Amino acid sequence: MDKNTEEICNYAGYDYKTDYWIKVDRSYENECEQYTVSKLINKCQNRHKIIDIGCGFGRLFPSYQPYTDSQILCDYAQHLLDQAEKELKNTENTTFIQGNMYELPIDDTSCTIALSIRTLHHLNRPKVFFKQLNRILTPNGHAILEIPNKRNFLTILRFIIGRSSFNPFTKAPHKLGDTFINFHPKQIINDLKENGFKCICTKNTNFLRHPIIKKLLPLKIMIKIDKFLQSTISFMNLSPSIIVLIKKEHSI
Ligand SMILES: C[S@@+](CC[C@H](N)C(=O)[O-])C[C@H]1O[C@@H](n2cnc3c(N)ncnc32)[C@H](O)[C@@H]1O
Repeated sequence: MDKNTEEICNYAGYDYKTDYWIKVDRSYENECEQYTVSKLINKCQNRHKIIDIGCGFGRLFPSYQPYTDSQILCDYAQHLLDQAEKELKNTENTTFIQGNMYELPIDDTSCTIALSIRTLHHLNRPKVFFKQLNRILTPNGHAILEIPNKRNFLTILRFIIGRSSFNPFTKAPHKLGDTFINFHPKQIINDLKENGFKCICTKNTNFLRHPIIKKLLPLKIMIKIDKFLQSTISFMNLSPSIIVLIKKEHSI
């Protein structure tokens, strides 16, 4: 097995939809992300062909399909692609491709938009993926990526009051167990720059994804608060999840 295959976080046999999104109700996170992705997709000028990389069971498909001419859904886990193909509606212009983010089986300069949400936290070497993104995107193509933020308000608070010795301000990635890695947003944006991308905007979301808050506040109110905070304090990059819109400036 080569390094690119060895490092994959393999979802084979995992019922990601039921176990992660349904058993524990994550409607709040889902609605916030659908909203943010739709908003950012609509900022992209050329919406001819989008690729959703690490698409899982196609959760975010409804947030981009209505605004794009054709779609590629790509994931390493074949059973999740099969589930997407079976369950999604409006897939006339959609292709399902099994592939690895470290070596995407996609032609050079063939996609106008790339989307990858909740995937960076599985990558030990995000820069290898950013190179792939640069390769498959058309000139001036866009990408929308989610950054799992190690420097969020909760990790900062815990550090300041001495509840955690983990320093959220350092640029090094923060590994949580074998499969999760959180990153400093500035480090990821720098890595993207090195790989030919310019950051167009950042949207902060999932501010309230704490179990206690979920118990206290109705879903509708939580979503309203998230949208308000997203539109007012996104520049601070303090939420646990940051979604960035970037543009390919040059090939590498
Ligand atoms: C947390 S899920 C996110 C799924 C989807 N983007 C969403 O937000 O609902 C991570 C997905 O990334 C896929 N994945 C992880 N490592 C991968 C790799 N190296 N190449 C392709 N897909 C990968 C997994 O199979 C899984 O479907």
